[in-house]
Amino acid sequence: NITPVILCGGSGTRLWPLSRRSYPKQFVPIVGDGSLFQQSAKRCHGNGYNAPVVVTNSDFRFIVTQQLASEGIDPGAILIEPDARNTAPALLAAAFVVAQSDPEGLILAAPSDHYIEQPEVFRQTVARGTEAAAQGRIVTFGIAPDRPETGYGYLELGEMAEGAAVHPLTRFVEKPNEVRATEMLTAGNFMWNSGIFLYSAKTLIAAFETYQPELLSNVRKAVEEAQADLGFLRLAPEPWGESEDISIDYAIMEKVDNLSVVIHDGDWSDLGGWEAVRQHGNADENGLATSGPVTAVECSNTLLRSESDAQQLVGLGLDNIVAIAMPDAVLVADRSRVPDVGKVVKTLRAEN
Ligand code: GDD
Ligand code: MG
Repeated sequence: NITPVILCGGSGTRLWPLSRRSYPKQFVPIVGDGSLFQQSAKRCHGNGYNAPVVVTNSDFRFIVTQQLASEGIDPGAILIEPDARNTAPALLAAAFVVAQSDPEGLILAAPSDHYIEQPEVFRQTVARGTEAAAQGRIVTFGIAPDRPETGYGYLELGEMAEGAAVHPLTRFVEKPNEVRATEMLTAGNFMWNSGIFLYSAKTLIAAFETYQPELLSNVRKAVEEAQADLGFLRLAPEPWGESEDISIDYAIMEKVDNLSVVIHDGDWSDLGGWEAVRQHGNADENGLATSGPVTAVECSNTLLRSESDAQQLVGLGLDNIVAIAMPDAVLVADRSRVPDVGKVVKTLRAEN
């Protein structure tokens, strides 16, 4: 069996004003059935999966329990981070918790902000990686790239041996600049890193022992000294605070030599910003996507969303516009500028 480890500590500022500090994007219904967090949990429920381990922060703990309960999913453990230290410490802490009962146990590390329309195809992809993971490999799942995206990691594929289920990985490049990204896209033998990983608890802990010994000892202490609190496991603040703030991609994936890739042939999207939401929100033949009480007249390449029944949003003759109406805030932006929404929100927060 595989234990899903679901990370949901991010803040998702690029999807403001739907995604808020106290209720970030992974907990909000954006596309599909339920929130992205609920969809992540459902994707790996039953079907040979153990109860999920969730890593989040104190503010979101009851959102997590409530959203799991409404899907009828019992969590295996909910780890509470004293503060966000990025994905490396979070995934290592979860590996220690899984190792307490089963060091050989396989873990599927899953972000909570992805949209996957066909969960069944995704489970088949994961199944192709289990043998390699059980043999001590770290399996990453690759997505065929279609643009020189600089917000993703890139996987350079080696030659696949006859009859093998996985590709060896020659190189892992996290978040390249645009020139590098374009080179890798044209080279043809690179995949995007989906940010989903499969490994045994033991393998991940061993990788930290080799490449991040200091982080390892701090996180080990934070787990050993963790306090059980009404069904939550609160990681010890002091050693946690000493842990480096670093992503698993930089801390481990760029360094290790035991990576393998399974290519995911199904759909996958990191719903990172409003443009991705427009594309996945059933846009019509003119590129118009709407949600909520919205009237659109002669609009194209536009996203209009109203999240309040009391607020009718009307678009007339719009092209390349994104408008998101919440009861207390409205975003109106040129479509080409939506990648900057996160920056604007950071400025807003600094001013308030
Ligand atoms: N619990 C917890 N604590 N979760 C966290 C933390 C944290 O401190 N930081 C991030 N997360 C969660 C986010 O909520 C998200 O679900 C997931 O971890 C990934 O973090 P992101 O910050 O969204 O990573 P990214 O999108 O920049 O990059 C990663 O994903 C890409 C694909 O979407 C990398 O793995 C890239 O290589 C990859 O291409
Ligand atoms: Mg992401």
